[in-house]
Amino acid sequence: MEKELYLIGNFKMNLTKSDIIPYLKKIKKMAKNTNNHVGICVPYPYLCYAKKYLNHSNVLYGAQNLHYKESGAFTGEVSAEMLNDFNCDMVIIGHSERRNYYNETDDSVNLKVLKALSSNIVPIICVGESELEREKNETFKVIDNQIKKALKDVKVEDLSSVIFAYEPIWAIGTGKTATSEQAEEVISHIKKYICKLYKLKSTDLIVVLYGGSMNEKNATELLKMPSIDGGLIGGACLNLEKFGVIFNTKIND
Ligand code: PGA
Repeated sequence: MEKELYLIGNFKMNLTKSDIIPYLKKIKKMAKNTNNHVGICVPYPYLCYAKKYLNHSNVLYGAQNLHYKESGAFTGEVSAEMLNDFNCDMVIIGHSERRNYYNETDDSVNLKVLKALSSNIVPIICVGESELEREKNETFKVIDNQIKKALKDVKVEDLSSVIFAYEPIWAIGTGKTATSEQAEEVISHIKKYICKLYKLKSTDLIVVLYGGSMNEKNATELLKMPSIDGGLIGGACLNLEKFGVIFNTKIND
């Protein structure tokens, strides 16, 4: 049987309308026949085009952040209700770039996760350790803490509507990918930890992606690892040919 993979592109703050419209038209065609779940998270201003070109297609789409409040005096922020106006399937929450540059905390990550779930938008919860934390052998401790706090008040029945992404900070945008063994070790730990938190008997419903310099050359190596369910792809998703190679990866279970 073929492994069911999730390959989600994160545009970050890249590309503009003149690149994005042809990209959307093309990815829709390219993803038509893939058995994998393909998705892209675009900058807010382009969600209108994602809706126009990808709604009811094989390609999922969403945003890279949201605010946890319904509305109000929050200049520059975007609510879940606004994302629903564009039929967003998913939203990235707690990306390390947001934690590092915009003071995103475990508490705000948790509020955003709850808001996304109650708005029927799949949260992609990002966790990961820094290089220093890894050197100090604190990887599992840091990640357990991020997960426990992100999932506060999340009900067990909502777990199947959550996607997790293990993104070691030292591997993001650096070209320094975690080895498949390193990624597998942490992702299998994450699955076991969530099972323990919720007293689950099986890890079957838990989806965990790897993110950090995944590209068309190393994707198969990473994706064939038993616990890795897919990838959150930054740089390499900007080039649709490369992203196409990644999202057409086939792994036999
Ligand atoms: P990268 O980014 O693939 O460019 O390392 C991944 C991410 O930040 O989601």
